[in-house]
Amino acid sequence: MNDDVFSERPIALVFSGGDSPGMNALLRAVVRLGLNRHKVPVLGIMEGYVGLVRTVKQLEAGEITLEKLKENILAKPGIIGLHARHQYIVNMDHESVSGIIVQGGIKLRSARSKEFHWPERRAQVIQLLKDLNVRAVIVCGGDGSLTGAEVMQKESGLQVIGVPGTIDNDLAITDIALGVHSAIETLVWAVDHFKDTARSHRRVLVLETMGRGSGELTQLAAIASGAEIAVIPEDGYLSNDRIRAMAAEMESSFDRGRSHSIILIAEGVQMDCMSWESRAWVLSQRLAEAFSHGPYRDIETRASVLGHLQRGGRPAPFDAILAAEFAEVALNSITQTTDSGVTVVQKGDYKLVPFGSAPSSDRAARLRRLHALHFDLSGW
Ligand code: F6P
Repeated sequence: MNDDVFSERPIALVFSGGDSPGMNALLRAVVRLGLNRHKVPVLGIMEGYVGLVRTVKQLEAGEITLEKLKENILAKPGIIGLHARHQYIVNMDHESVSGIIVQGGIKLRSARSKEFHWPERRAQVIQLLKDLNVRAVIVCGGDGSLTGAEVMQKESGLQVIGVPGTIDNDLAITDIALGVHSAIETLVWAVDHFKDTARSHRRVLVLETMGRGSGELTQLAAIASGAEIAVIPEDGYLSNDRIRAMAAEMESSFDRGRSHSIILIAEGVQMDCMSWESRAWVLSQRLAEAFSHGPYRDIETRASVLGHLQRGGRPAPFDAILAAEFAEVALNSITQTTDSGVTVVQKGDYKLVPFGSAPSSDRAARLRRLHALHFDLSGW
């Protein structure tokens, strides 16, 4: 058996949590830099931590031995491995990452693993990585994924590098995460389409955006798209009084000649509604109710939830470049140091910082400034 891959101490690359555009560009960059510059093999892990947990269970159930697993990894590299059933660890080659730089989604797929939260399972996963002679693990994902990476590093002593990948941009440690620019581009495209109908019918359109508890994506997209109003969680509880004041302000702006209005509301906004109700729908109904008592009784409101549209599609060029920068920082850290941590961009500087480091800037203050800036940009 050709044991080179394992004796050369491969890097394992895991994508965890939600996909974001640019993750395939990261996969390509890690594999190409590993093979071309550093002569280090890269094992792609299918379906995130779930793939590792499934492999551990196959070993536990005696469906496969460690030797057979290694044999399979060597026998089915690259594209063959990506399509092999019940094989979750793939020895990546050049061809397997060819053409993916412009593709959205994650070629290796991703998943959220409940079992990885069990300490006993994590211990088995760590043992598996050690048995495969893995020198370092790169984990790309959002908040939960990077927390999982930090826990794994502490428990294993392995070198673990987190790469921020989330459209939410809610990781204070980095000024920007992989996928944010692409999601903003998608939102600008979407708002542009909605504007046509809003203008044609003098309507108020309320669009719900993603972001979990954060309003960063929504605020940035509102500035970039020219959407008139951004309602974000950081603004506090969206009371009915605030909604009525919003309606009154819109009526005055219609008086001043404005023909329509686009409102972006982040999914994390707290308001008086059921947890399963769409914020966009509830806000649109309450605005319509407020308009029915005012001078513009006939203003129509409509709601749309933009949902996973925001996570898909071709990455923006900025994200492909960010992926290359993050991959370079990760590979340099792995080949030149024993440091674990997160690849970040802080004030234009690309570097590795320890897990849990303080943010480089006051993100809350920046968001408040952007919110005020947007307000003054949209006034009419
Ligand atoms: O974290 C990215 C994100 O898209 C959030 O904005 C959103 O709340 C969540 O993931 C949706 O997750 P799922 O794809 O599991 O529904």
